[in-house]
Order: sequence, then structure tokens, then C-alpha cells
Amino acid sequence: MTESPIGVFDSGIGGLSVLQALQAELPHEHFVYWADSGHAPYGEKGDLFVRQRSLAIAQHLIEHHHIKALVVACNTATAAAIHVLRAQYPHLPLIGVEPALKPAIALSQTKRIGVIGTKGTLSSEKFHRLLASLQDQADFVVQPCKGLALAIEQSTHAQSATHDADQISALLGDYTGQMGRFGTAPGEMDTLVLGCTHYVFAENALRRWLGPDVQLVSTGEPVSRQTRRLLEASAQLRSGPAPHAASARMRLMTNGELGALQAAALRWLKLPHSACHKADPHV
Ligand code: DGL
Repeated sequence: MTESPIGVFDSGIGGLSVLQALQAELPHEHFVYWADSGHAPYGEKGDLFVRQRSLAIAQHLIEHHHIKALVVACNTATAAAIHVLRAQYPHLPLIGVEPALKPAIALSQTKRIGVIGTKGTLSSEKFHRLLASLQDQADFVVQPCKGLALAIEQSTHAQSATHDADQISALLGDYTGQMGRFGTAPGEMDTLVLGCTHYVFAENALRRWLGPDVQLVSTGEPVSRQTRRLLEASAQLRSGPAPHAASARMRLMTNGELGALQAAALRWLKLPHSACHKADPHV
């Protein structure tokens, strides 16, 4: 199985922020990425729907792409479906993402920490358990950001880029404004956890609202390291040589607009358009 690809999926382009980190950590590996953009956003669709999508995508990646591991590069899908995926595929190394509260505690000086994510993630049992286990170590200000993942998803369609950038900035200003004061003085939030993989692509806009001193915490790097550990433990790490052509190393698929995925993959991963493909519409 060492030659098989690692599967990665998200409701859309957000998981590309995780794929970036995976590519840096595991340059010898092949990846197949499924952008479920035709069904985005997951965060406002409910657990049952997200579970069904996650199972259908996992099954397809296993049967048609023979993946050796699966990274659920979506906080919402991890919260709703990782336990179902583990039960269904007990032998497949599975890696999920969750809002990085513990790393944020280690970084924060004021111990007042903001958390943004989708409604699905932040209202999940899994997140509430995590929050409860850390409640005595910091104050958390939790803010669901309805519409933000969708606005980021749509911003990859070139025609509406300026309008979308304005919309993303307005949403961020509104939501962070509701959370209270950000800054490094006592009582201020000096750290913000990005609890949705899409939000990483809005970091520049966030910086404009929060200033340079607030630390933004995402999950790409710890997830990549965990993926490496699991592959090592199951003796499935590919040792090389690294595939030369990007299109040989990466296969990205979408059931949304191909042009939007191509634009996002070029912008954030420097991948050529030839790495992107239309996904099987029956999945
Ligand atoms: N990128 C996803 C996450 O990390 C989901 C965004 C959405 O589709 O609502 O939660």
C-alpha cells in the first residue's frame, strides 16, 4: 500500500489549507483531494447530511482510488462523522481536524481565547466535550460564523472576487466585533482559533480587523504530523523518490465548478490546472 495515495476531503476548497501542510510534511506522498463544493457549506446542513456525504466520499476514495489513509480536512465533518467513519473502516488510518484549543492555551498570555467555526462544529457534542475539558485553563469566547465559509468558497470564482472580498471582510468585522476586545492587554483576547479550514484563506482580512499582535491558530501542521505518525506506525510511509510532476503527485476533484478549484489550487498550492478534475457526479 505504500504507493497508494492519501485521501483528503472537505466540503470545498477549505481543506486545501490542510493539503498545503500535508504536502510540506510529506513531499514523497501522492494525494487525492475531494472538494465536495456541490454540497457546500456543510456547517449549516445538519449532522445527518454531513455523515451521509462523508461516508459516500470515503467509500468512493477507497474503492476507486485505493487510498491508504484518509484525512477529514473539515472540522464540521470531523465533528459529525469521524466516529461513523472509524466504525465503518476500522483498519484505515483516519485523521480528523478539530479546533486547536490546546495549542491556543499554550500560546496565549492573557488566557482569553476566541474560537470561530461553523454552527455545525461549535454546536457539536464533540466540541462541547473538548471545551468542557479545558474550561479551567482559559476563558473561551465562541462565535459561530454563519455564511463565512460559503463566502470564502465563492471568492474563488474570479468574476465576483472584489465583491466577495468585501463580503468576507464585512462578515469578519461583524463577528469579531461581537466577540469583544482583541489585543494583548489583560482581559483581551490575544489568540484566535480558526475552527474551520476555510478560514485560513481569510487570514489577511482577519489581520486587518485584529491587528498584528493577535495570534491566529489553525490545524494544518499538527494534522500533517499526526498523518505522518499514523503512516509510520502502519509501515505505509512512502520513502521516495518524490514524484516530479505536480499532476502526478496531486489529483484534485470537485463536484462544483472546475474553474473555481483550479483557481484556488493555483493560488494556494501553485498547482497547474491539469491537477484538477471533474468529480464523479454520482458520488
Ligand atoms: N471547511 C469546513 C470546516 O472546517 C466546513 C465549512 C462548511 O462547509 O461549512 O468546518
